[in-house]
Amino acid sequence: MKAKRYKIIAIDGPSSSGKGTVAKLVANKLGFSYLDSGAIYRSLGLLSIRQNIKSTDIVALLAIVKQMCLTFKDSKVYLDKEDITKQIRSEAVGMVASSLGRDKLIREALLEFQHKFADLDDLVTDGRDMASVIFPNADLKVFLTASVEERAKRRYNQLQQLTKSGTMEAILDDILTRDKQDSERVYAPLKLTDSYKLLDSTHLTTGECAAQIVSWYNERAR
Ligand code: DC
Repeated sequence: MKAKRYKIIAIDGPSSSGKGTVAKLVANKLGFSYLDSGAIYRSLGLLSIRQNIKSTDIVALLAIVKQMCLTFKDSKVYLDKEDITKQIRSEAVGMVASSLGRDKLIREALLEFQHKFADLDDLVTDGRDMASVIFPNADLKVFLTASVEERAKRRYNQLQQLTKSGTMEAILDDILTRDKQDSERVYAPLKLTDSYKLLDSTHLTTGECAAQIVSWYNERAR
């Protein structure tokens, strides 16, 4: 019997563009599952920091990927049985995740893990290469962005709530570094192409962004 093909909405965009919150809202509205691909890269980043492995030691990193037992449940991320939801959100982990994401072998090793999600349910997913590499046949591809100042402001507010750490200047710097690293890498760079619907969230609420994406999806589905 032919396997069921589930629906996929792929949302790509730079850091702190609101992808995660918007993707979750869209998933809730449509009754789809949600995959945060950044959390996978961040989890690997956290493990590499804990085990003191350099981002250039690809052999050791690939060995971690093989053993990494990640689960997503009720908006939380578990590494084995440990809840790492908060720990993977730090700036340091984000920067390491971005560095690791430059390597082709690491990206390939994480590919199957991401594909499995689309075998289980209709899916909303967000990241940098969800539409370009991981799910090129996605039913809708959205590029969600916002001005760099707005993204830094959002990240600052988020970090204040999480850890009360970080200055605006440092955050702006991190965002610019990560933008450059994620969009200029050789493999699976973040890149706006014609296949995306562009959504600039600078002056929109997350609810308005989600409503726009649902409306685009419904138009396509009709
Ligand atoms: O989406 P995020 O900020 O949580 O992702 C953290 C880093 O992980 C990001 O700067 C680059 C990397 N990443 C990636 O290379 N590819 C993805 N699909 C998702 C994240």
